[in-house]
Amino acid sequence: MTESSSQISSAAAKLIEGKIISFPTETVYGLGADISIPSAINRIFEIKERPTNHPLIIHFSQISQLNHWAQEIPGKAYLLAKKLWPGPLTLILPRTHHVPLNVTGGQDMVGLRIPNHPTALALLDAMGPSRALAAPSANRFGRVSPTTAAHVFDELGHKVDMILDGGPCKIGLESTIVGFKDNSAVVLRPGGVSLAQLTEILDEEVLFPEKQSITRVSGSLNSHYAPLTRLEVWPITSLWNRYLEIEKLGLCPILLGWSSEFITKRAIKKCTSFPMPNKPIAYGRQLYATLRQFDNGKYDRLLLEATPNSQDWAAVSDRLKRASFKEPKV
Ligand code: TXA
Ligand code: MG
Repeated sequence: MTESSSQISSAAAKLIEGKIISFPTETVYGLGADISIPSAINRIFEIKERPTNHPLIIHFSQISQLNHWAQEIPGKAYLLAKKLWPGPLTLILPRTHHVPLNVTGGQDMVGLRIPNHPTALALLDAMGPSRALAAPSANRFGRVSPTTAAHVFDELGHKVDMILDGGPCKIGLESTIVGFKDNSAVVLRPGGVSLAQLTEILDEEVLFPEKQSITRVSGSLNSHYAPLTRLEVWPITSLWNRYLEIEKLGLCPILLGWSSEFITKRAIKKCTSFPMPNKPIAYGRQLYATLRQFDNGKYDRLLLEATPNSQDWAAVSDRLKRASFKEPKV
């Protein structure tokens, strides 16, 4: 689904007036504001209830504009941009003076991406050259990102000036964020572009390190992407016992698993359960919508089967880890 051109022109006009528009991308829905309008950028932080030192990604539509927004661009960044844009890749690069500091949380580095969605690209083109959209995911800070227009409406409906409906997001997890250190690419957030794709393009092994050398990625805070219902991740060997323990407490759990063992056992065990895809891309596409579906007050605990440790599951495993993290009680 893409919006009509008149709706896109009307959304672009509103953005230029300083309004806030939610729009679809291939990863998740964004909450967009024109980067040159400080009051609009302030509203983004207010609507999301997000601390203002957390930087926003700038979205633009033409690769030729890259050096308008960034400078001292490493060759590897150009290579990734040329191969992967439009697409689910965000590059962290030194900003030019065209990028206001209120968008970058006061940092001299800026996150940039060209999204791969016809509505997003048409909207950016309709805004005209030298304009760009700051757009975090259209959810409240720390919560699950929206992958349909209805999710945005449920969470922020009355707070935004318009929601463009581009159908369900094809990728369903946020973009992969890549920075550069000592001429090497560093993955700050695994996402829609796989580590294998980065490795192939750069012809060097790109992994997602457990400990980050560059910080300030809000998605890398320990508790993030979280539903309101408490979420626990267990290996398949402990999953069913955990279900029974929770049930014994008089609570109502639901199991979500993906492996063939889960799918087979699910048929014989009398547990409330839901099957997830067994491939990382399909799983990622469905994850946020599924978490929202069961975060409906009916369940006291979401019990998820752990996903593999392999690099192809890195983005999904990262989101599960953060969605389930609980601050240690003091
Ligand atoms: O797929 C996506 O990236 C989506 C869609 C809407 O494009 N956007 C998104 O934005 O996920 P947000 O704000 O929810 O997450 C952006 C992440 C944050 O964790 C932020 O800290 C990081 O990007 N980021 C942005 N600029 C940065 C910078 N200059 N340095 C380090 N991290 C940055
Ligand atoms: Mg977000």
